[in-house]
Amino acid sequence: VNICCPVCHLPLNKYEKCYKCENKHSFDVAKEGYLNLNRKNSQSTGDEKEMILARKNFLEKGYYQFLRDKVNEYIKPEDKLVDLACGEGYYTKAFKANDKVGIDLSKNGLKYASKNDKSTIYLLNTIFNNPIEDNYLDTIVTIFAPIAKEEIRRMLKPNGKFILVKPDINHLFELKQVIYDKPYLNEIENITIPGLKIIDEIKICKTCTLNNEDLRNLFTMTPYYHKTSQTDKDKLNDIDKLAVSFAFIIAIYEKE
Ligand SMILES: C[S@@+](CC[C@H](N)C(=O)[O-])C[C@H]1O[C@@H](n2cnc3c(N)ncnc32)[C@H](O)[C@@H]1O
Ligand SMILES: [Zn+2]
Repeated sequence: VNICCPVCHLPLNKYEKCYKCENKHSFDVAKEGYLNLNRKNSQSTGDEKEMILARKNFLEKGYYQFLRDKVNEYIKPEDKLVDLACGEGYYTKAFKANDKVGIDLSKNGLKYASKNDKSTIYLLNTIFNNPIEDNYLDTIVTIFAPIAKEEIRRMLKPNGKFILVKPDINHLFELKQVIYDKPYLNEIENITIPGLKIIDEIKICKTCTLNNEDLRNLFTMTPYYHKTSQTDKDKLNDIDKLAVSFAFIIAIYEKE
């Protein structure tokens, strides 16, 4: 995947420890290997260390491997692929595309990703303004993250695919039952993307029994973590084991 200069949009060329365009705009490669395109004064920082570490420890146990395998079925080796909001690269690393980029704003996520996966170029950058040409990509993936609709349409080739993973109604319901007095099922929002049409949508689900450590990691990596009081969080400490449903919707969009 060719990467453009975020300042002047000319192609960036790779040197030993940096990328440069012909206008001599230069961007550093961090020692772990990701390319830092983020402006110094940027406010947003992506997910913080604690969440990233919890997610890494949880995903390493393989609970979501069935999801990763399923998504990979929609990817071809010859695809030019970008994983938007790739986090620690758990999915990105495994994707069978030979030419792939992972983009995220979390330094801690990308440090881990780029140290552990040399098959992907990782970019520290917002997903809402990507250094990638128009009509260029075969496949874009977004898993549990904000959806950069306009950028997705802009970067995909005609007939290029966008793979979106979102939680199904009963995802993590048993975990919510432990924590909340009145747990709700997830609402499913029908996400439309101008210029793309949905061509396939599948649901996959699996129930796994988690020990206390995995349960707490799982909770810490979800958005519930920030929305829950300490008293409610503490309810997790008393649980040795819990069967939890992992339920996902994989939606495939195609650019018209
Ligand atoms: C729930 S995590 C999902 C990470 C990964 N896709 C996974 O499923 O393991 C959401 C990710 O979105 C990233 N993120 C949120 N807003 C972003 C933005 N504007 N630009 C880039 N990354 C962003 C966060 O840093 C975080 O890594
Ligand atoms: Zn430039």
